[in-house]
Amino acid sequence: MSARRFRQDHLLGIEQLSVDDIEIILETAEAFIEVSSRDVKKVPALKGKTVVNLFFENSTRTRSSFEIAAKRLSADLINFNSSISSLKKGETLKDTVLTLEAMNPHIIVIRHSASGSPHYLTTFARSSIVNAGDGFHEHPTQALLDALTIQQRLKTLRGLKIAIVGDILHSRVARSNIILHQKMGNEIALIGPPSLVPTEFEKMGAKVCYDIRSGVKNADVVMMLRVQEERGAKNYFPSIREYRNRFAISREIFALAKKSAILMHPGPINRDVEIETSMADSEQSVILQQVTNGIAVRMAVLYLLKGEIHETLN
Ligand code: CP
Repeated sequence: MSARRFRQDHLLGIEQLSVDDIEIILETAEAFIEVSSRDVKKVPALKGKTVVNLFFENSTRTRSSFEIAAKRLSADLINFNSSISSLKKGETLKDTVLTLEAMNPHIIVIRHSASGSPHYLTTFARSSIVNAGDGFHEHPTQALLDALTIQQRLKTLRGLKIAIVGDILHSRVARSNIILHQKMGNEIALIGPPSLVPTEFEKMGAKVCYDIRSGVKNADVVMMLRVQEERGAKNYFPSIREYRNRFAISREIFALAKKSAILMHPGPINRDVEIETSMADSEQSVILQQVTNGIAVRMAVLYLLKGEIHETLN
């Protein structure tokens, strides 16, 4: 466990984290991986603490892994269901959060379609706020679990070429990864059709590339993104067939990356649109390792925000 101190009250984005903060989260997550390999997968680090999962958008991975993470830390967890809540009766987000806060939770994990909603909560809430995805803006725990997976497989988080392919425009996963790898000093190539990869992204320190072959060439990491139908992404290119022909990861395209390269995807994947099935299930694919690492990273985040240092590994 690192002797350095994590000094954040919330996890709003990768933007707010220093390189030290990122390294502390990853070191702490490494320690929690061992807990998940035990027969009894529980430590008392958050005993007596309450975590609220406040999800206003669909989720399989993030919501369930925050739930498992909180339970493995012995926290009490409430899963708030927005579809049966009083929001349906006209209650505002602020009143909903104030109502939940009146029950004295310690951490609120929020996913919301509005960019900046976790930041808004910090203006009036007493709990630590964790961003589980806000609109097109950030998805910090996804970028952190991606970083942990890269570090495990490639033994470093520095000196890498990271190729991110697909719907960058609508992707909070892309934004958080760009910010993280920019902080780590890595080379970032963004690949996709011009309508989904505006040159605006070059201001974030990434290179924009419209040809998948040159973008993927010599990459250490190829990160595919989902075509976000719910955000209208299909209107940004002529047809799925054309998109697949130009940007899907096939064996032939992946062979242009380094021999040691890994293939990532935050999920959910659209097989044979973004990734050929044989590549998604290949040795180079780390998609399920990303999911597994999500638990350790989210345990680390919850613990660093509200845990008791000396209790962690007992
Ligand atoms: N990667 C990710 O955020 O997946 P979910 O939408 O299933 O949580």
